[in-house]
Amino acid sequence: MVAPLRLGVAGLGTVGIGVVQIVQRHADLIAARAGRAVVITAVSARDRSRNRDADLSGYAWEADPVALAQRDDIDVFVELMGGSEGPARDATEAAIAAGKDVVTANKALLAHHGHALALASEAAGRVIRFEAAVAGGIPVIKALTEGLAGNALRRVMGVMNGTCNYILTRMQSAGLPYDQVFEEARQLGYLEADPNLDVGGIDAGHKLALLAAIAFGTKVSFDAVELEGIGAISIDDIRRAADMGFRIKLLGVAQMTGRGLEQRMTPCLVPEGHPLGQLQGGTNMVVLEGDAVGQIVLRGPGAGSGPTASAVLADVIDIARGIRTPTFGVPAAALVVPTPARTSTPAPWYLRMTLLDKPGALAKIATALGEAGISIDRMRQYGHQGVQAPVLIVTHKATRDDVDTAMARFAATGVLVGEPVAIRIEEV
Ligand code: HSE
Repeated sequence: MVAPLRLGVAGLGTVGIGVVQIVQRHADLIAARAGRAVVITAVSARDRSRNRDADLSGYAWEADPVALAQRDDIDVFVELMGGSEGPARDATEAAIAAGKDVVTANKALLAHHGHALALASEAAGRVIRFEAAVAGGIPVIKALTEGLAGNALRRVMGVMNGTCNYILTRMQSAGLPYDQVFEEARQLGYLEADPNLDVGGIDAGHKLALLAAIAFGTKVSFDAVELEGIGAISIDDIRRAADMGFRIKLLGVAQMTGRGLEQRMTPCLVPEGHPLGQLQGGTNMVVLEGDAVGQIVLRGPGAGSGPTASAVLADVIDIARGIRTPTFGVPAAALVVPTPARTSTPAPWYLRMTLLDKPGALAKIATALGEAGISIDRMRQYGHQGVQAPVLIVTHKATRDDVDTAMARFAATGVLVGEPVAIRIEEV
């Protein structure tokens, strides 16, 4: 008879209570699958008196998560508090020092300290697992470390912030401006306490950096992710992109190039017919490309109690089974320090601008593009607004530098009204 695996759960918010509920509801099923019982021994949260949707009476209570992490009667420290510093970091470090395995949903902690934590835990013969930290209920880390273990990964892409995808798809379906939908998202409780984590692309950037480390065997380098949020996306761009057969997504892309590792989390256009283009509301999608398998698409809930707890339990059950895959798929000491590369993989671009409606205006823009080495694929001019003409151009493949050169030349033409918009079209 194998002894039960004993969990200490720190953080009893939506996800923590979801974990408690699954452990209680599926005790038999989990024991059958893991070959041993999985039990919760002790829990910790900021406020003991809060009403929670689970019976916690059978568990010891620790006010201090560090004390929970150090208890002799837990085997696995389950960290569901969040935050890259403070109690989450202190308690995780304490758990490793005390010889515990760690399961966490904390993307910020791992994006900033994942390498050091993985080194420490592996030196102690323990593991840190974080399926729940990336794309919630989608088993993307298992897909990378197990299902695609025989592939060299070519590219990893994803829509990994449900709030941003909700905002962008709601803007399109309701024809509403960003500010109004942002407020709606706030009232629905979709936004993080610091909304910039969502709409500034930081939360999704953390997730991309973690996937890139696993996919390319590199040390997590969140600081090298090119980040751009969705705050500048206008309803005009959403509409015009749709006219041209595209959708705008906050898309993460990581790929290893001859120049180094490109990582970006930026608004991009994707074809409306690709699964990425069809992704609606708060759902997440991860697209993985391996040299042997080609492209696979994983879609599912990226947040919420059940989905995130589902991912936590996957890691817990692996540990109960004795499966001890290293945190980033290979031992942390073997992770390579990547050379960060600013995105210069060429792509088609969407350019939207307003021109003075006078002879030769469009010719000047076409000339500026030609001089920057950029070829036009498609172009559309919309109904004049007084003496102004909205113009939309889709280019053939060009680098970011060439587009920047063209934009600088546009400014010198004297025919531009306001600022032009340039958005990369990701070839998927
Ligand atoms: N705020 C995130 C999202 C969930 O909207 O997807 C947690 O990462």
